[in-house]
Amino acid sequence: MKSSLSEVKMVNLPRIEDPRGNLSFIEEENHIPFKIERTYWIYDVPGGQVRGGHAFKEQQELIVALSGSFDVLVDDGKEQKKYSLNRSYYGLYIPAGLWRQMNNFSTNSLAMVLSSTHFSEVDYIRDYSDFLRLTEL
Ligand code: TYD
Repeated sequence: MKSSLSEVKMVNLPRIEDPRGNLSFIEEENHIPFKIERTYWIYDVPGGQVRGGHAFKEQQELIVALSGSFDVLVDDGKEQKKYSLNRSYYGLYIPAGLWRQMNNFSTNSLAMVLSSTHFSEVDYIRDYSDFLRLTEL
């Protein structure tokens, strides 16, 4: 399992600006390199809470701050990088095999995650030392 931070991409999603209100959209295998098997969202996050804090063996994902803002920390076992998401027309693409954590949620923020897989607990690596071992294989 080897993934590099260089594979993480901030995707600039289409933006249809309109005096009636703006519109953005995402098409699978166009703006993101995978088929969407699942969508979930994280909301009502109390101040100071941290979500994520794990890696996936297979799941690729795109994270969008539909509302408000939060930070996503990605880590390939060697380096870490922080992305601040605060616009609904940016999506952060994260390939499988990277540790990631989300924090610094603003009040009423809404994090949408598009996933390439159905939910499967066995796809999670929840222990950081296991993650480091796997990155060395
Ligand atoms: P988890 O992915 O660990 O949350 P986070 O990484 O945001 O901190 O998921 C929390 C719980 O929700 C865990 O018991 C698994 C469950 N869950 C599902 O049942 N289906 C899903 O699609 C997701 C993402 C989580």
